[in-house]
Amino acid sequence: MKTAIIYASKHGSVKRCVDLLKERMLGQVDSINIHEHPNPDIREYDYLIIGGSIYHNKIQKEIATFCITNSEILITKTLGLFISSALMDINEFKNNFPTKLINICKAKENLGYELYIHDFSILEKIMLNFVPEEYLNNYGIKINKVEKLIYDMGINNI
Ligand SMILES: Cc1cc2nc3c(=O)[nH]c(=O)nc-3n(C[C@H](O)[C@H](O)[C@H](O)COP(=O)(O)O)c2cc1C
Repeated sequence: MKTAIIYASKHGSVKRCVDLLKERMLGQVDSINIHEHPNPDIREYDYLIIGGSIYHNKIQKEIATFCITNSEILITKTLGLFISSALMDINEFKNNFPTKLINICKAKENLGYELYIHDFSILEKIMLNFVPEEYLNNYGIKINKVEKLIYDMGINNI
């Protein structure tokens, strides 16, 4: 069994999700940063997990493009999708992944979020002041969601 986790992470929260997923999975698991490898060959993998974070209501464009370009092969795989975002908009999967992938995926989860403020630009720090506090009170990556994603995909070899 071979799994690839294909992800984009601007400040590190998604990368942390990837590490938490990886720690809990047996078999060969390759984590692939889409910014470093924009066109990974996914034919050799049985399981694919794809994830990114939301900035201004959108997932990273590299993840969106990858999903569209590879949708025909992705529908033949055991697929999981995840998002890391603060607002947990109920439409965030529908708005950021192709419908045909949402329809066939075995698991989709928002794994929670973190804010690595030390890594933010001045503009990002300013923008953070305009986010109502109630949106930021569910801070943290959710281990139970990480484990559910793995379980729902049928790779819960913890
Ligand atoms: C400038 C900025 C804009 C953001 N915009 C959104 C947004 O539109 N919706 C949302 O749910 N979360 C938003 N977030 C929260 C991020 O999605 C969240 O912090 C995520 O965990 C970041 O992942 P990363 O560190 O891997 O990039 C925003 C965060 C920043 C700093």
